[in-house]
Amino acid sequence: MEKEVNYEYGVVQGFALSALFWGVIGVLIGILISFQLVYPELNFAPWLTYGRLRVVHTNGLAFGFGLGAIFGMFYYITQRLAKAPLPFPKLARVHLWLFNAAIAAAAVTLLLGYSQAKEYAELEWPLDIGVVVIWVMFAVNIIGTILNRKEKQMYVSLWYILATIVTVAVLYILNNLAIPVGLLKSYSVYAGVDDANVQWWYGHNAVGFVFTTPILAMFYYVLPKATGAPIFSHRLSIIGFWALIFGYLWTGAHHLVYTPVPDWIQTTAIVFSIFLIAPSWASVVNGYYTMNGRWDQMRSNYLIKFLILGITFYGLQTIQGPSQAIRAVSQVMHYTDYLPGHVHMGTMGWVALTASAAIYYVIERVYKTEVYSVPLANAHFWLALIGQLIFSVTMWFTGLQQGLMMMQRNADGTLAHTFMEALKLNYPFWIMRGVGGVIFFLGFAIFVYNILMTIQKGKRLGAAAA
Ligand code: HEM
Ligand code: HEM
Repeated sequence: MEKEVNYEYGVVQGFALSALFWGVIGVLIGILISFQLVYPELNFAPWLTYGRLRVVHTNGLAFGFGLGAIFGMFYYITQRLAKAPLPFPKLARVHLWLFNAAIAAAAVTLLLGYSQAKEYAELEWPLDIGVVVIWVMFAVNIIGTILNRKEKQMYVSLWYILATIVTVAVLYILNNLAIPVGLLKSYSVYAGVDDANVQWWYGHNAVGFVFTTPILAMFYYVLPKATGAPIFSHRLSIIGFWALIFGYLWTGAHHLVYTPVPDWIQTTAIVFSIFLIAPSWASVVNGYYTMNGRWDQMRSNYLIKFLILGITFYGLQTIQGPSQAIRAVSQVMHYTDYLPGHVHMGTMGWVALTASAAIYYVIERVYKTEVYSVPLANAHFWLALIGQLIFSVTMWFTGLQQGLMMMQRNADGTLAHTFMEALKLNYPFWIMRGVGGVIFFLGFAIFVYNILMTIQKGKRLGAAAA
């Protein structure tokens, strides 16, 4: 019989709940900023204006919700796949508290207007140092668990976990190198075009190593567990992993098409962006083929719906993304609302659906119980899906309209439309986006309720059995 391993699950639950907390705040701010663009009177105070809140939204969701879920799920998945406990469980608990303190400090400083003005790297230098310390604490425990592993073979999720840890550290440190000139003010060591290039090398890979590799680690772990069948091809999963890692780090300059960044750097980024379709779809194909002969589980198993729709949006996202890198497409949709459409198919579709499945699955295991309510989980799924589709589709329409209008010229070469004309046509779409956001939020609120009730149920059953 397998020897009982003393896994550390307290932090898993702590991070999952933290992710839900920051998720609620981040999504509510998302709804507010959507409506602020249409109704300026909703900018209640200087520190509650769109400019300040937008950054709290992106940081709150990418780092509060996203990283919170990633830390929690990684602590669980790594211990289980390694069949070994965390070497430093107390350190993991300190990590949990410092993480929440850092997100709270980030929100306060951003609301007060302290920012490095680099997207996804807005935090000022003292917080950056805190982030590095937190990351090292996390890395020590995860890498320690992998080194102590009892299971010789490294399943693909562990590779994605290691890639996330190493790459985020390198990206974060290099992009945030700065000279402090005060407690909350610093200047980047890079200037001009170099600064832009390093920033978008970081910015794109934040997408790659916060919104892609860790979510794939969760997907590859939870899908076989939920279906009860092994992943279709281990070889394909490993080839996909190495090809993705090889390709990702070259693509940052696709955010800088038609800028003073040298043309060859832009072209390299565009070529690698197209290349990425192959390893991305390796995971999509692997996911779909794992379902061969068991597609009926889409109806009978609520987790499968989240996972399969999640990977489907990943598949769509990784075709749309490369297409956006192409010069002819970038020309039309860069600087338009088409982009938030792309972003939220990825974040509300792929990231949120897959991370939700992982949280449901892991909380059930940690509490040795079944989810409190499957109908509520289904309601969460449908509201998230409908809210996300309304968001993305409205943004694609209005973005294309905006881009095409701004490209139209009169016979004498002047613009056929003013910026204001194109901007005003956004209003109905922005309202619809806000409505999509409210629908998504209802699903998220149900999710939080269902998880809290599952924990209560697990505690009750645990107490009764004791
Ligand atoms: C093959 C994979 C992908 C490629 C090649 C790609 C490509 C792109 C390109 C070219 C842009 C910038 C467009 C512009 O500013 O003109 C962009 C923006 C973005 N993409 Fe993707 N994408 C991919 C997958 C994803 C995924 C899976 C997500 C997950 C959420 C995602 C999230 C984002 C975000 C957040 C931005 C906005 C960045 C910003 O301007 O702040 N992308 N992507
Ligand atoms: C109710 C759900 C949501 C609403 C209403 C919402 C709303 C918004 C709005 C209005 C923007 C600004 C768009 C602009 O620059 O014009 C934005 C940007 C962004 N949001 Fe959300 N959001 C939601 C969910 C999420 C989630 C779940 C995530 C991440 C997990 C996320 C990540 C981002 C990111 C990365 C950006 C920056 C995109 C860019 O620069 O193009 N959002 N969101």
